Amino acid sequence: MIVFLSPFASFDERLEALGSTTTRAWEESWPETPPDTIAAEVASKDPLVVVVGPGVEENMGLTWVEAFGRVRQDMSVVMVGDMKTELVVAAMRAGATDVVAPNVSHQELVATLDRARDAATRMRESTIVSGDASPRGKVIVVLSPKGGAGKTTISSNLAVGLAEELGPGEVGLLDLDVQFGDLSHVMSLMPEHNLGDAALASRQGLDPTTLKIFLTHHRSGAFVLPAPDSLVQAEDVNADHVKAVLDIMTDLFPVVIVDTAAGIGEHALMALEFATDVLFVASPDTPTIRALRREVEAFELIGLVQAQRHMAVNRVEGRGGIGIGEIETTIGLPVSFQIPRSRGVVVSTDEGVPILEDGGRDPAAKALREVVSAFVPGPSGIRSTRFGRKK
Ligand SMILES: Nc1ncnc2c1ncn2[C@@H]1O[C@H](COP(=O)(O)OP(=O)(O)O)[C@@H](O)[C@H]1O
Ligand SMILES: [Mg+2]
Repeated sequence: MIVFLSPFASFDERLEALGSTTTRAWEESWPETPPDTIAAEVASKDPLVVVVGPGVEENMGLTWVEAFGRVRQDMSVVMVGDMKTELVVAAMRAGATDVVAPNVSHQELVATLDRARDAATRMRESTIVSGDASPRGKVIVVLSPKGGAGKTTISSNLAVGLAEELGPGEVGLLDLDVQFGDLSHVMSLMPEHNLGDAALASRQGLDPTTLKIFLTHHRSGAFVLPAPDSLVQAEDVNADHVKAVLDIMTDLFPVVIVDTAAGIGEHALMALEFATDVLFVASPDTPTIRALRREVEAFELIGLVQAQRHMAVNRVEGRGGIGIGEIETTIGLPVSFQIPRSRGVVVSTDEGVPILEDGGRDPAAKALREVVSAFVPGPSGIRSTRFGRKK
């Protein structure tokens, strides 16, 4: 069922044209009612999709969208409003699945509602499948359409930073840049085993004890499964192997970080099935931003809406280049993190010491600490303490 929260009785005809599973709900008192109360009442009708508007004042609509996310995570929320960038970004940030203009064509409205309904259906199916299994921790998949964007820099620093925050043995890091992964270089690891060995072993059925042997300990306390060390070995790693490995890693570690190759290949796609969070990484240049837009669109088509999406812009420079506002408009996602270009990062990569290990006051290190803080699991999901207090 799809419920429209709209004061416009004149809208009912239009809803009839949309089909029998669409209804309008509205109470005179709603503008004065706490959003959580409205959300609870609407959620009790068990709709797959809730549409906020038309005719709901924008700021109020945003508080409602947020409230729906708090009350139930397995509904899609579509907002009707002006397609201004600020509103689109604010709506996405509040947890809306989509935003449509009040004068949206019938066809487009039908398509939007279909997408939203499909997304909610998938969310429910996956909730049922994972059922009463032990609650999984965070699985953060780092994605970018382009090589060199900073995926490995961010993944390695996120692992180091989170391991230092959470303690040894709490963070697993998987290199899914199967052909050219270089996590072991940028973290100065001397791995005895890698993903290739795990793939081979998984043919006989991989178990936690075996996988643990394949992991390499990093001095930060993180455990790393590096990429195969030859292209020949890489050939033999397929999506099923990735599934077998992630099934176990997500049991072993409260936080699993997955570094990937450019684009979304079969390995990354499998990792996305496990993702609670996706971190898109882009550099602030037009070709990358355009490519990222396509990637985010593809992502929506795949229907991985249940994973929280974040965007980091890396190598931000003071002047010139495409602005943050423009990036947000193009991609339709808020920029959560801005990491400045810094020599310190280049040096840290060359030396094999992630900059969060000894970055001091480097501006990129500071920004990376903010990324870490945002992913520290806590009562509210996001903890506000800054990583700066270490040591
Ligand atoms: N903020 C930054 N400032 C300067 N150099 C950076 C920054 N981020 C990454 N780099 C450098 O760019 C190169 C590619 O980064 P990397 O993280 O390996 O990209 P990816 O994994 O997306 O291919 C590395 O040499 C790294 O040191
Ligand atoms: Mg890389």
